[in-house]
Amino acid sequence: MSETLHVVVLAAGQGKRMHSSLPKVLHPVLFRPMLHHVLDLAKSLTPDTLTVVVGHEEAKVRESCKGYSGVSFVPQREQKGTGHALQQAMGGLNGKEGRLLVLCGDVCLLTQQTLRKLLEAPSDAAVLFAKVAEPGGYGRIQRGADGRFLKIVEEADCSGAERLIQEVNSGVYAFDLQLVTEALPKLGNQNRQGEFYLTDVLGLLKQGTVELVELLDQNEMRGVNDRVGLSFAERTLRDRTNLEHMLRGVTLQDPMTTWIDPRAAIASDVTIEGGVQIQASTIEAGCRIESGSRIVRCRLGSGVWIKQGSYLEDSEVGKDSTVGPYAHLRPGSRLGQNVKIGNFVEVKQSVFGDGSKASHLSYIGDAEIGSEVNLGCGFITCNYDGSPKKNRTIIEDSVFVGSDTQLVAPVRVGKGSYIAAGTTVTEEVPPNSLVLSRGRQVTKPGYASNYRPSKS
Ligand code: UD1
Ligand code: CA
Repeated sequence: MSETLHVVVLAAGQGKRMHSSLPKVLHPVLFRPMLHHVLDLAKSLTPDTLTVVVGHEEAKVRESCKGYSGVSFVPQREQKGTGHALQQAMGGLNGKEGRLLVLCGDVCLLTQQTLRKLLEAPSDAAVLFAKVAEPGGYGRIQRGADGRFLKIVEEADCSGAERLIQEVNSGVYAFDLQLVTEALPKLGNQNRQGEFYLTDVLGLLKQGTVELVELLDQNEMRGVNDRVGLSFAERTLRDRTNLEHMLRGVTLQDPMTTWIDPRAAIASDVTIEGGVQIQASTIEAGCRIESGSRIVRCRLGSGVWIKQGSYLEDSEVGKDSTVGPYAHLRPGSRLGQNVKIGNFVEVKQSVFGDGSKASHLSYIGDAEIGSEVNLGCGFITCNYDGSPKKNRTIIEDSVFVGSDTQLVAPVRVGKGSYIAAGTTVTEEVPPNSLVLSRGRQVTKPGYASNYRPSKS
């Protein structure tokens, strides 16, 4: 496609049928606003300009797109119809030429292949359509006696016979920019909804110049109008993403319950059990992720084993480490290689050196743990003293920390030290020390019977 391409995405509508305070195009589909899927698709065609028409909750929609470069926003203050929406975008395209692709913010299942087919249709205008069993809700495509495109009739304006037409408009079009620029100002709103229909533009173009491009997989054009459509869109994108991963060598034991962000990169020989969610992460070869785990923006080195029910956010796990079952890596956790984080362990903003372990029931926050450190059961970093600034704990290499131990930060434990079980460390520990802070044991033989209630 050498021709200049401009894309306009219509996204000003409220989406009443969502019954939501969130604008429809911001409802998440596979972890991201549905509009982002449309923008990604648009960007994949490397257009010269990309314009989004915004209206309802304009500020929120703009804000959600701030990570996208090269997108301009045009406001449509009052939602007077799709034709009116496109009219708002034309000012920014003044004097330009080439093709104009019109997409809708709520039609997020289209593929690049389909759009390329539409853009390659040699015509003044091309409409993407499908033949469906239940055409309700869509604009119907009317053909003339010669079988060519005549016009589109919106459902609200259909006669009884027109209602039966099964060929429907997807709402996605490729226009010659100059021709549509000339036709748009001529639009009227003499219809049952009193709206300026973009579909009427096609009727204003020279007869015989509108091409119909058929969509073979009609699911692609399903717009999200309500929460049922939202669920359908999400499932469809999930299935597509999962299929790609399986074909590239990832085992998904229960793909129907596995939700993977299309932005995730997963290497071959990774096994993922059911009920797992993976959001924008990189997972290297040979990892195993057990059921019920959720991995959000993480990097897992090769051979990592995430055991059942673990939750990892914005963290890195080094090669051959294991996490879980039921562990929580909060943002900023960086585990080296061969690290073991066991059950009911929470790690936050902390680094673990190679070969270190926290196998049971611990909280490690704002800490630097060296390599080959063993943190016993019930170990706690006391990093919070009520002030906003969290204090740091440093444990150097090869330290052994006994069970039920607290380190009151800020504190440092020198290399090779041994901290006895039940100790509360409050002061710096030099290397190779033994630290012990519990009261001496008192044993009084026979005393127990004095306390035992008598069985009368
Ligand atoms: C539209 C088409 C219909 C087609 C259907 C496919 C028209 C008149 N009808 O109907 O033929 O079968 O899509 O899904 O175009 N929007 C604005 N401003 C407005 C109105 C709408 O930006 O004033 C945006 C919406 O946010 C949405 C898109 O345009 O993203 C489509 O609008 P919608 O109201 O959903 O159109 P449909 O009635 O579905
Ligand atoms: Ca719609």
